[in-house]
Amino acid sequence: MKTFATALALLTSVEAGLRFPCSTLTIQRLDPVVQPGSLPAAHVHHIVGGNAFNSTMTGDVGARATCTTCQMANDFSNYWTAVLYFKHPTNGSYHRVPVVPVQPLLGGSNGAQGGLTVYYTQFDLSKDNLKTQPVKSFQPGFRMTVGSPTKSGKPQTGLRYQCIQGSNRQFPELTDFPPKPCTGGIFTTHHFPACWDGVNLDSPDHQSHMYNTISSDGFTNAPACPSTHPVRMPQVTYETTWDTTKFNSLWPSGGPNPFVWSFEGTAAGTHADYMFGWKGDELQKAMNKSECFYDGCGSITKQAMTTANQCTVKDFVGEVTDGWLDKLPGQ
Ligand SMILES: *[C@@H]1O[C@H](CO)[C@@H](O)[C@H](O)[C@H]1NC(C)=O
Ligand SMILES: *[C@@H]1O[C@H](CO)[C@@H](O)[C@H](O)[C@H]1NC(C)=O
Ligand SMILES: *[C@@H]1O[C@H](CO)[C@@H](O)[C@H](O)[C@H]1NC(C)=O
Repeated sequence: MKTFATALALLTSVEAGLRFPCSTLTIQRLDPVVQPGSLPAAHVHHIVGGNAFNSTMTGDVGARATCTTCQMANDFSNYWTAVLYFKHPTNGSYHRVPVVPVQPLLGGSNGAQGGLTVYYTQFDLSKDNLKTQPVKSFQPGFRMTVGSPTKSGKPQTGLRYQCIQGSNRQFPELTDFPPKPCTGGIFTTHHFPACWDGVNLDSPDHQSHMYNTISSDGFTNAPACPSTHPVRMPQVTYETTWDTTKFNSLWPSGGPNPFVWSFEGTAAGTHADYMFGWKGDELQKAMNKSECFYDGCGSITKQAMTTANQCTVKDFVGEVTDGWLDKLPGQ
């Protein structure tokens, strides 16, 4: 069984791909990919990244944004997921679960606030294999989603939950919310597909321009891209730590999982959205570089998280999403 300590040892000894934190940018009911123009959108999202974020986003996001909550200073992409809420087992009220930075904060990224950790891997975490498998950057205007709030049953491979006990992430990864309280919070992972059709920056379902290559959990190389989606892209992954600890005492012993996604969603509905926004060819330069990781792949400018944390967007929706709520916003 892989413990968090060995996972960390793996991370610090390897050199392939990008891994960096982005602080929380905003928590609002907006979704410029699935519901562009809707103000508000159907459910609350936790959003990180550049300040071009808005209810509608078109064109070259990286050229319009002026700051980002990400450590990589020229990454103006936006990354978001649904928000986790605690549903009080006896009185039915909801409370937003805070996000805390994914540990460990490596590569000079101390000071991240909330947020999530983003990966762009070329092959897997230990090698890049660029000679046989070059990776093409996403293009301006590109967006995609993974998972769906309407899904029932189990989430697809690559969308997973883990209990953090103390500071140890528990393996194997779960297809459902942990069945018992976790002393260190709940960890969620969203792996995106890696094969592009080479033409469309988006598609009606925001997924079919990509081919879902994910056949196993963890940071593994995806299988060969099919002829319909021949272009190998970076493998994007989000990791989020939800600090559920203050709700543990309100979870009756032996009772069912009291956590729901912001659409009153069960574990199957976990999903994530990606809006590409790297400036110029910065991501391509990084993906072309062999053997790089926390160093920004030799070419990317990093910023202090104290600077990243100053990047904000306005409150477009103007509704309360935190504290004890009678119902989930929009539900
Ligand atoms: C957000 O988008 C709206 C509609 O496109 C636009 O009018 C507004 O200026 C944008 N706001 C910001 C802060 O970018
Ligand atoms: C439900 O319980 C919480 C925590 O005890 C409390 O703060 C909240 O006000 C309660 N909600 C209702 C509707 O009584
Ligand atoms: C990345 O590498 C490809 C060849 O694999 C090359 O054509 C391209 O110009 C490189 N791009 C950058 C920005 O370095």
